Amino acid sequence: MDRKDLLDIESLSAEEIHEILDTAAPFKEIFMRSVKRVPSLRGKTVVNIFFEPSTRTRTSFELAAKRLSADVINIASERSSFVKGESLIDTFHTLLAMKADLFVMRHSFAGACHFLAERIPVPIINAGDGAHAHPTQALLDLFTIRENKGTLAGLEVAIIGDITFSRVARSNIWALTKMGANVRVTGPATLVPRGIEEMGARVCRRLEEALDGADVVYMLRIQKERQGSHFFPTIREYYHLFGLTPDRLALAKPDAIVMHPGPMNRGVEINDYVADGPAARIHDQVTNGVAVRMAVLFLLATPQRRDVAEELAAAGE
Ligand code: CP
Repeated sequence: MDRKDLLDIESLSAEEIHEILDTAAPFKEIFMRSVKRVPSLRGKTVVNIFFEPSTRTRTSFELAAKRLSADVINIASERSSFVKGESLIDTFHTLLAMKADLFVMRHSFAGACHFLAERIPVPIINAGDGAHAHPTQALLDLFTIRENKGTLAGLEVAIIGDITFSRVARSNIWALTKMGANVRVTGPATLVPRGIEEMGARVCRRLEEALDGADVVYMLRIQKERQGSHFFPTIREYYHLFGLTPDRLALAKPDAIVMHPGPMNRGVEINDYVADGPAARIHDQVTNGVAVRMAVLFLLATPQRRDVAEELAAAGE
């Protein structure tokens, strides 16, 4: 991978995606070691700057950077000088003056990471920008699917829920179709954007049609924070039509897996028995997020890098 930033999935090639997933696999092995750390980013400073709430992404980037031996600074926008009126670009130049080596940013505006990437000289990783993109989420989802199914090509993946406001849906459609999977989407008609077929997804009108024979069932949260008005009558009706229950999951393949990017809203898009059932891979997604984010940090922060196998051998047990 020969690029300065990771801003979206759209601009990645299938080969680059393979390289990230293949780099993440050995990094996941160090989770089993008593010392879960390699020296790859020793001396580097990673700044996590989040302008929107996060549990999984922020924590796993911090953990990933620490497992690579980087110094990590976490900045929450509401406790920064951003609230005193400092601009985004001045905030970043201030952090650059302290010799930050790499930024991980989440922002509510689509394109915020692209804007910065053109203006700052060090790598920036998009940890979610508005409804646009969440590339590391899609990468960890691919890793989890490949780990379970052995492949991505030819799989039938159903993405269900609020497609319109979901950066996860958008990044996953790009990622899965690039890797040869077939994607179907469904949700309330008001939450399935026109033209989504142009990204390579098939639109199903009913949940049952989307679930039929699926290898992977990917549930989405209703993104209330991005919806300016009501897009469906009530939560009860939403659950009645689009909530994933054991009976509905039975329409998918017998070995289908259930995924969710989190946070889940139980009783809205997913039933407890499914969320905690044997098909769920939701906690595995979180675990794999650390390995995949280690791979992304490693590939972007060390252009003259050693081989991953050398890194792991150098770290020893
Ligand atoms: N999947 C995801 O982005 O979760 P967080 O908002 O908790 O980071």
